[in-house]
Amino acid sequence: MQTVIRPADDKGVVSQAAQLLTDGQIVALPTETVYGLGANGLNPDAVAKIFITKGRPQDNPLILHVAEPADMEKFCHSIPEAAYLLAKTFWPGPLTMVLPARDIVPKCTTAGLPTVAVRCPDCAVTREIIRQAGVPVAAPSANISGKPSTTTAQHVYDDHNGKIPLIVDGGPCQVGVESTIVDLTEERPRLLRPGGITPEQLTAVLGDLIVDKAVTAQIDKDAVVKAPGMKYKHYAPQADVVIVSGSREKAAAYIHRHITGKDRVLCFEEELSLYADCNPLSYGREDCVETLSAGLFAALRELDNPAISKVYARCPQGGGVAYAVQNRLKKAAAFRIVDAEADEPPLCKGRCPKGAEGLSQSPSHANGVTTPFTQGGLVIGITGGTGCGKTTALQVLESLGGVIIDCDAVYHDLLKTDKALLCAIENRFPGTVKNGTLDRKALAAIVFTDEQALRDLNAITHGAVKNKVLEILNGKPHLAAIDAIALFDSGLHKLCDATIAVTAPEDCRIGRLMQRDSLTEAQARMRIDAQKSQDYFAQKCDYILENTGTAEDFQEKCLAFFRKLLTIKENV
Ligand code: TXA
Ligand code: MG
Repeated sequence: MQTVIRPADDKGVVSQAAQLLTDGQIVALPTETVYGLGANGLNPDAVAKIFITKGRPQDNPLILHVAEPADMEKFCHSIPEAAYLLAKTFWPGPLTMVLPARDIVPKCTTAGLPTVAVRCPDCAVTREIIRQAGVPVAAPSANISGKPSTTTAQHVYDDHNGKIPLIVDGGPCQVGVESTIVDLTEERPRLLRPGGITPEQLTAVLGDLIVDKAVTAQIDKDAVVKAPGMKYKHYAPQADVVIVSGSREKAAAYIHRHITGKDRVLCFEEELSLYADCNPLSYGREDCVETLSAGLFAALRELDNPAISKVYARCPQGGGVAYAVQNRLKKAAAFRIVDAEADEPPLCKGRCPKGAEGLSQSPSHANGVTTPFTQGGLVIGITGGTGCGKTTALQVLESLGGVIIDCDAVYHDLLKTDKALLCAIENRFPGTVKNGTLDRKALAAIVFTDEQALRDLNAITHGAVKNKVLEILNGKPHLAAIDAIALFDSGLHKLCDATIAVTAPEDCRIGRLMQRDSLTEAQARMRIDAQKSQDYFAQKCDYILENTGTAEDFQEKCLAFFRKLLTIKENV
């Protein structure tokens, strides 16, 4: 089949496209977000062609595009007031709503779900084509499944030349990332995918919004999720993408330390000069996030080259449209993010204490060097992911007379008692402290989408927690354990004689979480995926305690290990 690209303002292009759609063919259409691969959404045979052309998994439903906002009533029922409000405010525009589907919508369009996603795009020519075709148009993003989306007619041609008859060329897409998806079928509106309509804009209209887990974390391919599309590998070039967070200078230093001749840097225009020697690619300006969303997919497609081994990417911070850019980049990177601020190589401050050689040292200290033991009692820093067995290790330490300092509990206590801490939080985040009480939900909503805000909050809270820990250590316990998930980010590791990562094989962790917290396997996996990786903990710590056997085995292992550390300490 010959594939023709025709400019949107060519005479007769609208009627040709409308005719092809009525005939059950596929047409690539421009929208303000990305190009779509459109077909008659009420015709199962036409819809089946989309899945084949795109190589799309059958369980991933399509969005129905309508010409007029009022048309949603033809395809959806039980429409809540919120949907009318959103349509009135944001349509035509980059917003998709998930609503209960009428029977007229075929199962292949909704992938068997009782709901359907509808959107009225803000593109005059495409709406005119839909109007003339007289049917709603089912259209996924026009990329081959798993590849970065298509934001120009040429991108569509590159992916589908010879497979579709017509590409309507409306020029480069303005928004550049796919529409925001909101599910309105539950009691509370739920954000399934961020896009050009921002969470802040939605909350202003709805007064409430839950962000689905699939937006913020890697989802297992077997998991049951609200937006089936969110669990698939997405937007990714062939190379491994790694996001490097942190200040411009620290990120550049990190990238220069690690980059090889086969790697590329994807950065902001403002940063190009920092990478002049490594062939950087800019995708827009950091001070104008709309240029980043508009340029992201074109850049990812340019980097989709088998000769490239790794892409170091810079990601904008904050909410608004930046939130959508973060989401796409994090998915392209399979959520691999390195913090350039924290990457300084671990300090090796002294010689390995006599006798410690027999213990299982972590790779970063395998050369036999570890932190020197301090004066006074033995202070151990313990960290590790959920479900590894940190609590068991702590119980063993307690049975040896150790003082356990649970930093989470310390923080929550401080929020009740430490006026200076509350004052510092209120100064940085005005309105979050009311009548001497912290509104944790309001604070979480701010730091959730803004990495800089989170860093600022951590700087405030980590300092307060550290003071409290020091106060406890001043009581000179002969054995103390600092239990902190952010042991290193908070700087608490510097107070320790030894830092220990408790690790366990992933299937053991999942089993434990399912049993302990009554989670499903998918939920347990999500919880694990939302945390730092085991490698991170293992790399950072002096020692690794691996929990592979039964609870009793692990208790014994911990006991022997801590006794040995105590003996070494006494002999120093
Ligand atoms: O901007 C856009 O939305 C573009 C343009 C062409 O309009 N379209 C687009 O379609 O991005 P697609 O198929 O690439 O992404 C649609 C997403 C998928 O993640 C899919 O799982 C989700 O919408 N989706 C579709 N129907 C759904 C439903 N009933 N419930 C939940 N999620 C749904
Ligand atoms: Mg897509």
